Amino acid sequence: EQEIKNFGLNVFNNIEEESKSIFNKDWWYGNIMEWSMKNEDFKTQMFRFVDVLPYLNSGTEVVKHLKEYFAQSNGELPPVFNFGVGVSSLAPGLLAGAVRKNVTQMAKMFITGETPQEALPQLNKARSNNIGFTVDLLGESTLSEQEAQEYHRRYSELLTYVSQESQKWSSNELLDFDDEGEIPRVNVSVKITSLYSQIKDEAWSENIEVLKERLRPLFRLAQENFCFLNIDMEQYSHKNLTLEVFKQLICEEEFKHYRHWGIVIQAYLRDSLSDIQQLCEFAKQRQTSFTIRLVKGAYWDYEFIHSQQKGWPIPVYTNKKESDANFENCCQVLLENFPFIKVALGSHNVRSISFATVLAEKLNIPKKGIEIQMLYGMADPIKKSLIKQGYRLREYATVGELIPGMAYLVRRLLENTSNESFLKSKFADNVASDVLLESPKKELITSSPEHPQKPQSFHNEPPLDFTIAKNRDFMKKALAKVQSQFGKKYPLVINGRNLKTQKTLSSLNPSHPQQVIGEVFLAQEKEADAALVAAQKAYKSWSKTSAETRAKYLDDLADEVLRKRFDLCAWIVSEVGKTWAEADGDICETIDFCRYYARDMRELAKPHKVGHALGETSHYVYTPRGVSLVIAPWNFPLAILTGMVAASIVTGNTVIMKPAEQSSVVASLLMDMLVEVGVPPGVVNFLPGYGEEVGEYLVNHKDISIINFTGSREVGLHIVNKASLIARGQRHVKKCIIEMGGKNAIIVDSDADLDEAIAGVLYSAFAFSGQKCSACSRVLVLSENYDRFIDRLLEATRSINFKYAEEASSYAGPVIDQEAQNKILSLIEEGKKESTLLFQGQVPDEGFFIPPTIFVDVKPDHKLAQEEIFGPVLTVIKCKNIDEAIDIANDTDFGLTGGL
Ligand code: FAD
Ligand code: 2OP
Repeated sequence: EQEIKNFGLNVFNNIEEESKSIFNKDWWYGNIMEWSMKNEDFKTQMFRFVDVLPYLNSGTEVVKHLKEYFAQSNGELPPVFNFGVGVSSLAPGLLAGAVRKNVTQMAKMFITGETPQEALPQLNKARSNNIGFTVDLLGESTLSEQEAQEYHRRYSELLTYVSQESQKWSSNELLDFDDEGEIPRVNVSVKITSLYSQIKDEAWSENIEVLKERLRPLFRLAQENFCFLNIDMEQYSHKNLTLEVFKQLICEEEFKHYRHWGIVIQAYLRDSLSDIQQLCEFAKQRQTSFTIRLVKGAYWDYEFIHSQQKGWPIPVYTNKKESDANFENCCQVLLENFPFIKVALGSHNVRSISFATVLAEKLNIPKKGIEIQMLYGMADPIKKSLIKQGYRLREYATVGELIPGMAYLVRRLLENTSNESFLKSKFADNVASDVLLESPKKELITSSPEHPQKPQSFHNEPPLDFTIAKNRDFMKKALAKVQSQFGKKYPLVINGRNLKTQKTLSSLNPSHPQQVIGEVFLAQEKEADAALVAAQKAYKSWSKTSAETRAKYLDDLADEVLRKRFDLCAWIVSEVGKTWAEADGDICETIDFCRYYARDMRELAKPHKVGHALGETSHYVYTPRGVSLVIAPWNFPLAILTGMVAASIVTGNTVIMKPAEQSSVVASLLMDMLVEVGVPPGVVNFLPGYGEEVGEYLVNHKDISIINFTGSREVGLHIVNKASLIARGQRHVKKCIIEMGGKNAIIVDSDADLDEAIAGVLYSAFAFSGQKCSACSRVLVLSENYDRFIDRLLEATRSINFKYAEEASSYAGPVIDQEAQNKILSLIEEGKKESTLLFQGQVPDEGFFIPPTIFVDVKPDHKLAQEEIFGPVLTVIKCKNIDEAIDIANDTDFGLTGGL
């Protein structure tokens, strides 16, 4: 510890004379940083503003946004914002110019140049100051294969160009040699998400194959030109994939004897130490060394929020000292495995670096055997001090334009203004050196990977994380198991007894229509009558069963669904053609309905005291109504069906459950589970059949009290109509709960971040082949963004894969059946007459597929813009301004969902 402190103090002493720092308040940037650190609200608005600025087309827009963003900042703004909110002494054009100039300058602090040609002199200059580089092309998470190809081309060009230029440079003893000999002058960092736009958690092997195929030429170029190639580490969801691709590639015959490959480990990850141990074993087996850049990690805020949003364990440490302590533990293992593994220390934290350098010395590792890396534009004084002490220092030098670089820039801004930042503590807060150099393990408090939750609040069931190998394996096994059970017969269930009838219906796999998922016996009027008798009889005791008991059945049902999760997913994939994640979404929603209604019923059951009249006590209580008819759709074969059944029974009603014909097998599985958790006979009766026959009969029946329906407008309105009639002997008015279609619009504003807007529109319109009542059917794009939006939307749509639903890499599968396929195809044909068909994708020949289809030049009154199309058909409408967009969004017969 003493040696570490001494080393650190030495670094600090060397930098006291250095005054230039990113936190220098004389500069616009320093000033903005200071405000951001003091005022969380200002910081949020400032970073949002920086993020939106490149999209703004005019000075007026800039001023408008400034006012909108900062009007909420409690009136207090930094003096460098010389515009004030609402008033400015400058004309909009001048003001916008000034703001843009400052933000661009701020970006330039972290970006070496827009092009390699522009960056090269900077890199060369750095070398003359004994600073090496690793170049990264700004950009990540591409939307389309065209964009990915473009990154690939630019990386190839970069490798060729910089290595050619580097031959003109003179050799630098400190930078160009390590303990084993000469090392490349050119060092390049690549992010895998820039090279493949269709990375999908479920599709592990496809991801690996495609990424290897794309990286191979770059690896070849690097090796042929004696360059170092590093694969950066990005979000946790890509971590295992990145490691696997890297390991497989560097073991390939042509690459396995080259040592200038690098990968990154993020010490903020709870997994990182075990990953390092595995990599060390791997390195020994490979025999030729490679480099691990050890960092803490750049996506801390994202990982925390993303895992919270998904309900997954937090992959990162949440106590900063744990990341620091783990950095040291990881460092120790890496250094102990020298020279099988070479370590690059990616940190600006003097304590972290001191620990590593002192330990390296103790382990007799020469100074040349390790490398220190820091980001361009950060910690310059520390860099100089370490170079003086003879360490090899490399800068991470980014190249590119502001828009693709925005994610990188915002990460730097967040990092530098974080209360946890070492650089902030040292240079902005002036924390004492001995505190900065303290061991992170001292009085270390460990954090939990669980998100803190309020005890009483409702939590959505977390979706499956398909980055976990176990989940992918379970899913594959379930699909195979379910397939072996295709073709069985499924009975009706009335009063707890299974019943077979004369007629059956074949439920088909829409991906492979020759596969019969199951044969379902069909109910006719006779069985409907029997079900009504059973439901009425059961009602007598069920309606008096305590709410707590009823709620408990729902909780048990949720547990049962959870236990059978993978099998149920596989049935949904097979019977209605949902992709894995969509099927799992159905499961989560099923569980949520059960838990939420159970929880709500416990509250609703408490008598609610009303009225204030003296001498009088009044309570408001909810009582059941009778027999509830559930007529469910096929598009959420388990979730919506369960939701309607669960709500009915938990409130004390009994149920006749009539599933959609196309998803009767999944419905039958729900019936099985209701029986398994012990719901008494007659409380739920399973009555598969045709809507127009048995459905119609029951809708009209005097003994039905409630009708729950989700489906088309045509049928929904017909039901409402019929239910309003009072039959002879009917003593109640039927209550209808009807959810019908949509013609949902998403408005894309002129300042929208197109990376987000396009990915969102694409998924909303095309996932599950657009067969959700909430699917985006119309996208209303403001004219400023229209051409850019269309170009990228087109390429993004071209890049997605409509495949058989069971295939892990499928973006979307078929539509539900032949009838739907025919109907949608004919609507597309009609659409071609009115509007311009921009794009139709490729789909498999077999199965009820409809290619993803986009129409443009659509007028708001065209059929395409007005009629519900339950399929992957997207209509793009150009709008003059936001008011017009909102008017068009509202101008249909439907009102269901919408987005901005
Ligand atoms: P410190 O100030 O000591 O540490 C800050 C870091 O602590 C944060 O970045 C975060 O990782 C962690 N942290 C913050 N708050 C908490 C908290 N509440 N609980 C626990 N931990 C917390 N990162 C990548 O993800 N992928 C890369 O490929 C990558 N490449 C890099 C390359 C170089 C050359 C460098 C220098 C860094 C790289 N990084 C990468 C790391 C990242 O960009 C940050 O610069 C780095 O994490 C900052 O850590 P520090 O040790 O410099 O500073
Ligand atoms: C990032 O892109 C440096 O890789 C790190 O933030």
